[in-house]
Amino acid sequence: MIKINAKHENPVKHKTDCLIVFCVEADKPEGDLKKLDASLKGAVARAMKGKRFGGKLNQTLLVNTLGNIPAEHVLLAGVGKKEELNLDKLFQVSGSAAKLAEKSLLAKIAYAPLDSALAKKLGTKKPSSYDPTAQAVAEGLQLALYCFEVYKTKKKGDPEPVRVKEAVLLAASSGAVAGMKRGAGRAKIVADATAFTRDLQRHPGNTATPSFLARQVQAMAKSAGLKCKIVSPPEMQRLGMGAILGVGQGSAEPSKLIVMEYSGGKKGQKPVVLVGKGVTFDTGGISLKPPGNMHEMKMDMSGGAAVIGAMQAVARLKLPVNVVGLVPAAENMPGSRAIKPGDILTSMSGKTIEVLNTDAEGRLVLCDALTYAARFKPRAIVDLATLTGAVLHCLGHCAAAVVGTDQDLMDQLIASGETTGERVWQLPLWEEHESATKSDVADLKNIAGPAVMAGTIMGGAFLKAFVDDVPWAHLDIAGMAWGDEKPCAPKGASGYGVRLLVDFLQNAG
Ligand code: BES
Ligand code: MN
Ligand code: ZN
Repeated sequence: MIKINAKHENPVKHKTDCLIVFCVEADKPEGDLKKLDASLKGAVARAMKGKRFGGKLNQTLLVNTLGNIPAEHVLLAGVGKKEELNLDKLFQVSGSAAKLAEKSLLAKIAYAPLDSALAKKLGTKKPSSYDPTAQAVAEGLQLALYCFEVYKTKKKGDPEPVRVKEAVLLAASSGAVAGMKRGAGRAKIVADATAFTRDLQRHPGNTATPSFLARQVQAMAKSAGLKCKIVSPPEMQRLGMGAILGVGQGSAEPSKLIVMEYSGGKKGQKPVVLVGKGVTFDTGGISLKPPGNMHEMKMDMSGGAAVIGAMQAVARLKLPVNVVGLVPAAENMPGSRAIKPGDILTSMSGKTIEVLNTDAEGRLVLCDALTYAARFKPRAIVDLATLTGAVLHCLGHCAAAVVGTDQDLMDQLIASGETTGERVWQLPLWEEHESATKSDVADLKNIAGPAVMAGTIMGGAFLKAFVDDVPWAHLDIAGMAWGDEKPCAPKGASGYGVRLLVDFLQNAG
């Protein structure tokens, strides 16, 4: 657990293992950096002259201060061109710097205040409110230093690895300290929630079953102050949830629908309902997946994990909105009772579904949750799901795809994607896609014929049949939930969606 504090002190007087200084692109030190460099006897100017550092985005240079100032090292962290700097870049650079400090075995770090021109540009609010730059810096460093070692045994005598334990955000004035502390406090809530989501994604399928997810949420809900209810198979049966029950019937693990409610908004204000796919392991079922990367399908509950993390953050931030989180959780296995290609299921909506491919199970667990969502009389429904491999072919690991029924809602999500760096890109959803979901023998089929392709859109087109007259957006996050190392995320589960949803709900208040 990293301790984060904010205080007003001159960086050249502050004692720390590593003083991190954000630098814009330049060929010689200017402004605050020039003052610091005077104390360092021109070390920064020499590095810049020798082209070892130029402030390029995410460029870093560690300089030993040789006793010239109380800080043992100065870490120069490039933020790129001044005009192009935004909060997302600051977030990333903060993370890159913190990782380099940790790799260099420096346990105490401090961030010099942002140059006043930069701080102004990034919209630092009045001192009484929270400082978004402090939030970005604190969030970036915590998420960059995230690690998950639950399943590694420790050998006796192994040295404890050096971890960053303490970070101080230095304020330019004493009046700025309170706002920075508030920003750091918010960052802790959001980073903790994202880490919780990453943990849930990373647990293997034999730990993270639908029942495990339900227990985790019950414990979280209690501590965060959420209402929580678990719908189990007998009640699902009564409700007629034939689609989610169908997916789970090949598994020994019972399916669970996790329901979370947060009421921070006015009484009677219609809630936003978030729905997250919670397939705790996707073998493909009888339409079995090839073995190559099947192990990665332990993350097929990433949409659900994002909804769970977002609910935790929203409650702890006490956002003034009403939000409901639904996670239909099931394990997709090829057991002896499993659904077979050609089987027909009756969903909670009453619509019948011909299952042509048991590997298109995400839309089956989601459709019953979408029908269930209507009982909350939502003003909007947003679902997140690792629904199709196809989204990787069109957007790679760069953005989630969105389709939906309401342009305003999608625009809000796209805007939150830009702010947080958790990008969202819209695909069309046309009448042709919808008619391609019609089955010859039932109301709908769960995959379209080869003539249609457009796998990601077809997933959305299927789900649309279960939403009546409510603004709805579907995010396919299969490319974003899991990926290579990034400045603020190690390789593997990314926690995508938590920061996006928090920003979206904050603006929806
Ligand atoms: N969980 C998968 C989608 C997926 C693929 C997520 C790769 C993350 C990485 C989903 O249930 C699935 O199997 N989708 C099928 C749909 C097809 C049968 C229409 C797919 O993408 O192949
Ligand atoms: Mn599947
Ligand atoms: Zn799946």
